[in-house]
Amino acid sequence: MPAPEGHRGIILVADDNELLSTEGYKVVSAADGQQARRVVDSDSIDLALLDVVMPRPTGFELCQAMKSKPETRLIPVILLTSLNSDDDRIHGIMCGADDFLNKPVNKHELLARVHSLLRLKQFTDELDNAETVVSSLALGIEAKDPYTEGHCERLSKYSVSLAEKLGLPEDLRVALRRGGLVHDIGKLAVPEHILLKPGPLTPEERKIMEQHTIAGERICAPLRSFRHVLPIIRHHHEKRDGSGYPDGLKGEQIPLTARILQITDIYDALTTDRPYRKALPVKEALAIMREEVKRGWWDGALLNELETSVIGIAMPVEKQA
Ligand SMILES: [Fe+2]
Repeated sequence: MPAPEGHRGIILVADDNELLSTEGYKVVSAADGQQARRVVDSDSIDLALLDVVMPRPTGFELCQAMKSKPETRLIPVILLTSLNSDDDRIHGIMCGADDFLNKPVNKHELLARVHSLLRLKQFTDELDNAETVVSSLALGIEAKDPYTEGHCERLSKYSVSLAEKLGLPEDLRVALRRGGLVHDIGKLAVPEHILLKPGPLTPEERKIMEQHTIAGERICAPLRSFRHVLPIIRHHHEKRDGSGYPDGLKGEQIPLTARILQITDIYDALTTDRPYRKALPVKEALAIMREEVKRGWWDGALLNELETSVIGIAMPVEKQA
């Protein structure tokens, strides 16, 4: 079988297999687990072919380590084993392996699997690029306003911490990480004279500003991997008493992820400098938010959780005055 046209991936081979380099792939070899780990950490590889019995870390261990880190989890891993046992396969699946090959390796089978996994990797790279563009656009909006610098990054971090404390599943934690960065991306559709207006907005201007929730949802809707982010973008300005926008949702109708993001959003806004006031001390910010909970705006249980488990661990020390 010929090497695939066009995309020739970079493949880490931690095995004594020389077949791939003769087929036109760029092969980075590793003699043992340590060296393989260094390659994974420092090189941009497209696929890893790991012998399960290589000196430690073993192929199983390295595979598991790769799949547990966001930077390397999307790199496909093929485990090579001479032990054709179900136990090894089950162990490999538990470690997150994408495919298996038995030794001695059948050349055609190896090339077919490498080809198909590299194609898959190419798709995930393209998706990754699309997400990066969306996140960069969102950070571009933040950059227009010097007072909000770092706000989105902090929101991501605090929302994920809160979600972890609440035991939310991984897909929703990932959605919150992304939501922290892109929730205001719809502000791209808001004219700058409204977006950056220092004084209060007129009712007409406010209406346009409120459209950023709907515009943001529309911008991100084509990204399948953002499907759990869309409710966060659309509903991060709803209030529990139904007085928020864009849909006037009440109480539990507001998605939990959107409620998590809004509570960290408000907290961060209150505890950082704004054009019209200095950053408030944590105590004062929390007191204001508690008042707003009583008024029926925010989720009081989430505010308690934010206060007890996230503030003090994640928030910068100087803010805790
Ligand atoms: Fe917003």
